[in-house]
Amino acid sequence: MEMLDKELFDKVVKIAQSRGFVFNASSIYGGLRSSYDYGPLGSLLKQNISSIWWKSLRNVEADIYPVDTAIIQSSEVWKSSGHLNEFTDPMVECKNCNKRFRSDSDEVIECCENQEFTDPKQFNLMFETYSGPVKNENSQVFLRPETAQGIFINFENVLRTMRAKIPFGIANIGKSFRNEITPGQFIFRTREFEQMEIEFFCNESEEDKWMDYWIKERMEWYQSIGIDKKQLRLREHDESELAHYAKKTVDIEYLYPWGWGELEGIANRGSYDLHAHQESSGKDLTYFDSLDDKKYLPSVIEPAGGLTRTLFALLLSVYEEEKLENDETRTLFKFNFDIAPIQIGILPLSKKDDLIKVSEQINKTLNQNYRTEVDITQSIGKRYRRQDEIGTPYCITVDFDSLEDNCITVRNRDTMKQDRISIEKVSEYFEKL
Ligand code: GAP
Repeated sequence: MEMLDKELFDKVVKIAQSRGFVFNASSIYGGLRSSYDYGPLGSLLKQNISSIWWKSLRNVEADIYPVDTAIIQSSEVWKSSGHLNEFTDPMVECKNCNKRFRSDSDEVIECCENQEFTDPKQFNLMFETYSGPVKNENSQVFLRPETAQGIFINFENVLRTMRAKIPFGIANIGKSFRNEITPGQFIFRTREFEQMEIEFFCNESEEDKWMDYWIKERMEWYQSIGIDKKQLRLREHDESELAHYAKKTVDIEYLYPWGWGELEGIANRGSYDLHAHQESSGKDLTYFDSLDDKKYLPSVIEPAGGLTRTLFALLLSVYEEEKLENDETRTLFKFNFDIAPIQIGILPLSKKDDLIKVSEQINKTLNQNYRTEVDITQSIGKRYRRQDEIGTPYCITVDFDSLEDNCITVRNRDTMKQDRISIEKVSEYFEKL
């Protein structure tokens, strides 16, 4: 990482941790490497990203059906999907200090003075556990490494119950688990993370059309949530990189502080998965096309994004520093109004009961439609600073004049312009935005 970019990384991580977006997991016990908890602001942000993702699926030119599938499935699923044999990364181990690394990554491997590595061996990334009280081969299960398979194994269920017609999609959001050899870069690569995946089923003759459709759609979506277009690019996988199931994959990459890296993968999985599950389960997973009077296994285009990784890219992208006239620096997360964890901060000028009472009344009016917070701790200057840092687009100040004139001041985070408005008109003011 260049110095400036390293600085950006450190600053964003520091604010994320100190302001309640992300905490180190098990922190009171010294933490667990690469495991994170999402605090009040982080979990709100995660909810907002996911609800904007679901909402965007309403605009798709075909039906998209939601599912919410189990983390632990039959081990047959992972045998059939190829994960049991193929979902591996090459790993080397230092013969002297026993540290383990991925041997296919661009990161510089450094461990001890006498580093000497074993030949690479394939390491399966799935977490194993046992279902039920008996620990043996028959009770061995895996935590899902992708949400996608939950969709494939429910293809026929959705088709039948929803009377779905091709082309259509099935979407799934949830936790996935990978025993990454080298997790790191904060929440970029963790062993437990959240994915948002769509499997879009279409006729083979329309694969290319829908691949292009989804690439465009997903690129626009990242921009719609506030990620700068200049920090996004598309990169197609070459043959050697393709996952075992993919005919073609195009990644949406983000320019992280350490360089370009994956944000979402859009893959043409053909009929690989339905074919594999049909073969192994013996269940008919074909689609009957009444127009053509034909049965076939549909092709699949898969936009597979990371919810937690998107959250990180968003924090990096909207982070800004501004020099003020008095030479102080203002730090901000410039979140869109829709995505900001807190949309309106309500700040009584002092802790006087009357001011707090008015603030709480305003909060009661606004919190039915907006994410609000009454902030009474510390000086007004420090509270503005905190609200800027957590990316609150508007702050309302209740001052002593408010008690006389029934007016309050609304400050815009980005322009710092202030409007004095009547308390009665506060809802109308935000509705008009
Ligand atoms: N079903 C296909 C699939 O899972 P992937 O490219 O391995 O494809 C999709 O994962 C997305 O999930 C990635 O683009 C990334 O955003 C997210 N992701 C994958 N591994 C991750 C990890 N260890 N930590 C955080 N996010 C991860």
